[in-house]
Amino acid sequence: MAEADPRRPTRQVARALAHDSAALHVSGTATYTDDTPEPGDMLHLAFGGSAHARAKILSVDLDAVRAAPGVVGVYTAADIPGRNSVGPVFADDLLLADGEVISHGQPIFLVAATSVRAARAAAKLGRIDYAVEPPLVTIAQARAAGSVLEKAQRMARGDADAALATAPHRIAGSIEIGGQDHFYLEGQVSIATPRESGAVHILASTQHPSEIQHLVAHMLHLTHADVTVEVRRMGGAFGGKESQAALFAAACALVAAKTGRPAKYRVDRDEDMAITGKRHDFVVDYDVGFDGDGRIAGIRLDLASRCGATVDLSLAINDRAMFHADNCYHFPAVEIVSHRFRTHTVSNTAFRGFGGPQGMVAIERVMDHIAATLGADPLAVRRANLYGPERDVTPYHMIVEDNVAPEIIDELAASSNYEARRAAIAEFNASHPYLRRGIALTPVKFGISFTTTHLNQAGALVHVYADGSILLNHGGTEMGQGLFVKVAQVVADVFGVSVDRVRTSATVTDKVPNTSATAASSGADLNGMAAFNAATAIRDRLAALAAARAGVAAEDVTFEGGHVVAGTEATPFDDFCRIAHLARVSLSSAGFYATPKIGYDRANHRGRPFYYFAYGAAVAEVAIDTLTGESRVLRADILHDVGKSLNPAIDLGQIEGGFVQGMGWLTTEELVFADDGRLLTHAPSTYKIPCASDRPPVINIALWAGGRNVEETIHRSKAVGEPPLMLAISVLSALTEAVKAAGDGAMPRLDAPATPERILAAIASVKPQA
Ligand code: MTE
Ligand code: MOS
Repeated sequence: MAEADPRRPTRQVARALAHDSAALHVSGTATYTDDTPEPGDMLHLAFGGSAHARAKILSVDLDAVRAAPGVVGVYTAADIPGRNSVGPVFADDLLLADGEVISHGQPIFLVAATSVRAARAAAKLGRIDYAVEPPLVTIAQARAAGSVLEKAQRMARGDADAALATAPHRIAGSIEIGGQDHFYLEGQVSIATPRESGAVHILASTQHPSEIQHLVAHMLHLTHADVTVEVRRMGGAFGGKESQAALFAAACALVAAKTGRPAKYRVDRDEDMAITGKRHDFVVDYDVGFDGDGRIAGIRLDLASRCGATVDLSLAINDRAMFHADNCYHFPAVEIVSHRFRTHTVSNTAFRGFGGPQGMVAIERVMDHIAATLGADPLAVRRANLYGPERDVTPYHMIVEDNVAPEIIDELAASSNYEARRAAIAEFNASHPYLRRGIALTPVKFGISFTTTHLNQAGALVHVYADGSILLNHGGTEMGQGLFVKVAQVVADVFGVSVDRVRTSATVTDKVPNTSATAASSGADLNGMAAFNAATAIRDRLAALAAARAGVAAEDVTFEGGHVVAGTEATPFDDFCRIAHLARVSLSSAGFYATPKIGYDRANHRGRPFYYFAYGAAVAEVAIDTLTGESRVLRADILHDVGKSLNPAIDLGQIEGGFVQGMGWLTTEELVFADDGRLLTHAPSTYKIPCASDRPPVINIALWAGGRNVEETIHRSKAVGEPPLMLAISVLSALTEAVKAAGDGAMPRLDAPATPERILAAIASVKPQA
C-alpha cells in the first residue's frame, strides 16, 4: 500500500510499525538458539562448579565423571590449547578454573555427554579437594581488606572543600543501592559446530558476536577468519549477554574442537542466576553544601561498588556511574571518587544503564535530602539545580549543549497535574489512619556513546537483488528492543520502498566484521547510520543510471512510493533493479559509520565522552501501608525525549519496559548473598521481578513533541534503550515522600530495593514515638 503512488512519498521512518518479529513472538514461531534442530551426534554440556567462593584447588578427581553413563569427554583448564580466557577487557575471566577458585559455582571442569540429563548428572560426580579461605563478600569486607580492581578514580571541578565549608547549609548521608539479575526470559545458550580444517561455527545468544569470535580464536589457536559467530535474536539480554555469553560459547567451541562433534550448552535458570554477573550494587556517601533555595554550592560523592571476582566491564560501568552522578544538575564545585571493589562473588556486569542508574539514584537521594532539610518541595530543589545557560559544565568538563530537561520537566509537571496532586496527597496523608501516599518527579539525562571511544563504530552490508528485494545485514543484534525494524525502516526509506521489501539477516561475523557489542543504547544510532550509508551508495548508482537513461541530472532522480522517478518516467523499483542488473550496475554495498566529535582523557577524567544526551522525566505516585510496609505504584506519567522517533511504537515499548524494569530493581528485586559467598536468591521463588499486575494501573507515556537531536544522528533520532529505566527513580523518591509523611517530615533512610522490610524500618526511623 505504501508503494502505490509514485508521486506521494510515504516515509518509512517515523512510522509506528510493529516489531518485525511481533507475529512470530506471539505465535511462538520465532526461533531462538535453542530451537535450532539438533543433529544426532550433538553433545550436551554441563560445568562442574566450585563448592566454595574462595579456595585453592588441591586435587581434582574426575574418574567417576568420566565413567558416568553417556559421558563422551571431560575437560579441565589443562585441556585448553590456547588462552584460557573469556574476559572482555582483561584475561582474568577463565573458562575453567586453574589452581584456585574466586567465586562460588565457578566452572572447574566441563562435561560433554549424549544428553542434557547425562551431562548434568555426571557433573555432580567430581571429587575436588579445596583449601578454603574466607571470602570477601560485601563492599564493607572488600573495603576493609583494600581489595580493589583498580585504584580509586577521581573526577573533579572547582574546589569542593572550600564550597562545602562556606555553604549556608550542609548535610551528609549515605544510601545503599542493590544489584539486579537480568532475568532475560531466554537463558544463556550456545551451539558450536565444527567446520572443515579446524574452523568452527557458533550460534550464541549474545549481544557481542565479534567478541566471542575473538575469544574462541585465541582459545583454540585459530584466526578470527576461522571462527564464525551468528545470532538471529535473543529472548532478552539487558546487558547480561554483552560479555558473559562468551563463557558458554567458549565451552561449546572447546568441545567441538576436541570431539569433532557439535556441542550445545543450555544453562538452566538456577545455574544461570548463580554463575553469571549482575548489576553492581553500590554504597554512596555524600556531603553537600547548599543555599536556602536548595541550590548546591559544593558536593562530594563517594561511590563504592561490588564488582565481583574479575574485571569484566566494571571499569567502564563505574566510570558511567561517575558520569551520571550529576544527572540534570549543575555543581559549581564537585569531587566524585569511585572505588571499584573486588569480591569473591560472581563478576558483576553490564545491566541497562551500565552504572548510570546507580549514580543517578545517589544524586536524586541528595535532592530529596536537601528538600527534607529545608522543608521544601523536592521538585523546587531539583529545578533550582538544573543545568542552564552559564551553568552548563559537567564534572568531567563537557559542556551540555542540548539541555532540554527544564522544558520537559515543566511540561510534565503541568500535564501530570503535579502540584494539585501533591496538595491532595498531603490532605489524604493527614486524614488516613495508616496509609501514606507520596508523589515525586525526577528527570533523566543519559549520555549516549560508548565511553570507550573506539567502540563507537559500526558496519553494514546491503544487497539489492535483481527482483527488487533487499537483504540487510548489520553488526547490531536483536534482543527484543526493535533494532532490526528500525534499521530496516532506514534502508526502506533510502529506496522509497515499503519496509516489507527488506529482510534483515541474522547477525553474523562473516558478513560484517569487527563489530562492537549492541549496547550503550547506540544500536540504531550506529548501525542505522552504517546501513544508511550502504543503502545510499547503491541508490546513488541507481540514480546515475536512471539519470543517464532519462537525460536528467542524477540529483533530480527520486525514489518514492516504490518507484524510481527520473524526469517524466516512473519505473517500479523492482523493474528498475532488473534494468540495473542488465546494465551491470553493482547492487551491493558495505557501509560504515564512526561517531564524530567524541573523545575522552580517562587519566584526567576530562573530555567529551558523549555525542549527545537523551532526556526524560517521570512523575510517580505511590501508596505505602505503614503497618505492613507494602507499597504500590498507583500512577506514572512519563515524558521522554527520543529526538525525532524512528518508530514511535517501538520507542513507547522501550520506555514502558524500561520503567517497569527499573521499578523492579528499586522495589522488589533483592539479591541476597550468604556469608560464604553463595547466592541465595537464584530462582523466581526467591527473586521477585515485577509481574503484569505490578504495572501501574494508570500509566501515561508520551514522546516529547519538541524532540529533535541537535546532532546529526540518523534522522535526528535519539537512543532509547537504557534511559527510560532511570525514570523509575521517581518511584523510589515517591516512596521516600510517603515514608516522610509517616513521620514528622524528617529525611528517612530508605535503601534500595525498597522492600516492605526496608519501608517498615525507614518508617520506624522517622516516626515520632507515641
Ligand atoms: N529491550 C528488550 N526488549 N530487551 C533487551 O534485552 N536491552 C536494553 C535495551 N532494551 C534490551 C532492551 C539494553 S541494556 C540496551 S544497551 C539496549 O536495549 C540495546 O539495544 P539498542 O542499542 O538497539 O537500543
Ligand atoms: Mo546495555 S547495559 O549497554 O547492554
